[in-house]
Amino acid sequence: MAYFDHAATTPMRQCAIDAWVEHAGAVNPGGQYASGRRANSALTDAREAVAQALGAEPAEVVFVGSGTEADNIAVRGLYRAAVSAGGPRRVVASTIEHPAVRETVLSLEREEGAEVACLPVGRGGAVRDLSALDSPAAVAACMMANNETGAIQPVAEIARRAAEQDTAVHVDAVQAVGKIPVDFHKIGATTLAASAHKFGGPRGAGILLAKRTPAPAPLILGGGQERGLRSGTVDVATAAATAAALTEAVAEMEQERAHVDTLCERLVAGIRASIPDTQVTVQGETLPGHVHVMFPGANGDAMLMLLDAAGIEASTGSACSAGVNRMSHVLEAMGIDTRDGMGALRLTLGRTTTGEDVDMVLRELPRIVERARVAGAL
Ligand SMILES: Cc1ncc(COP(=O)(O)O)c(C=O)c1O
Repeated sequence: MAYFDHAATTPMRQCAIDAWVEHAGAVNPGGQYASGRRANSALTDAREAVAQALGAEPAEVVFVGSGTEADNIAVRGLYRAAVSAGGPRRVVASTIEHPAVRETVLSLEREEGAEVACLPVGRGGAVRDLSALDSPAAVAACMMANNETGAIQPVAEIARRAAEQDTAVHVDAVQAVGKIPVDFHKIGATTLAASAHKFGGPRGAGILLAKRTPAPAPLILGGGQERGLRSGTVDVATAAATAAALTEAVAEMEQERAHVDTLCERLVAGIRASIPDTQVTVQGETLPGHVHVMFPGANGDAMLMLLDAAGIEASTGSACSAGVNRMSHVLEAMGIDTRDGMGALRLTLGRTTTGEDVDMVLRELPRIVERARVAGAL
């Protein structure tokens, strides 16, 4: 098998497994006794390590259950905090957000009276028109790097422009953390989301960075853990594993980048040379290890099935909803032709990807695309 879906999830790092095992027996870190203090000390260490890796203060680190949860708390919570303080009911978001942000914004529009304005993207896949930020909003959301195309977004510029109107800014950095440098204070965001399983930590673990003010209104009420932003007894082992994985990912970022860059270069050159009419979707700056290509006329679903049968695990941008195969909202927002976008393929590499994995794709893909193009013509 050759695994090319590292952007979906990447194997846990050994250091994360070790940290998890070490702290698996930790008790409630809020306990006012020796074992509780030991658990709390491990949690404090994890919080400090996360803060250090992401350019934040330890008090700004909130351990949550997923990247999705961090996005929900930030976007809905910042909106509710602004509205209850008499602020604007406006929400600004890029047109290429992950469903964790996109669905939250749409629900605020449907159910909480939000007026939504968009940050459109250009054909290059990056946000290019910031004018929606020139009127005040409760919150503006833009991802740091897109999960489908890998395109890197101008988040620091967005945060600067939003600050002129006192608009809070949420950055979904789930795909970026561990792959490119992420500095919360330098970006100037109000909140930032990360997800442990994208950088070699455990699945079901997320990080929310949140400035003290404006702080999101909590969505989960209870014992007031995690600054009141995420009540519930904290899972110390998962926090420790998250911190260990993040520390290693940041320390080894350059080395891992060099590894995937070399493989990606060979992969893209080989695909271009052997498959007619290949389009590399994004010409601008993309995430390391992220290859997004389109084979016009090919049926993306057929391509994935054939790849799977050949032992290659990858994904496509087009989502199949209610049996209707549609091009993804991200490619649509970039103005990509349906015939091109329906033949999209995302191959994402990671630290465990090998030259043999790349050889396997280069050997199998030309025949598979040919067949997927026949299926696309039916
Ligand atoms: C950009 C982005 N945001 C949010 C998420 C959700 O993260 P999680 O799987 O931790 O809920 C993902 C996961 O693919 C993502 O790529």
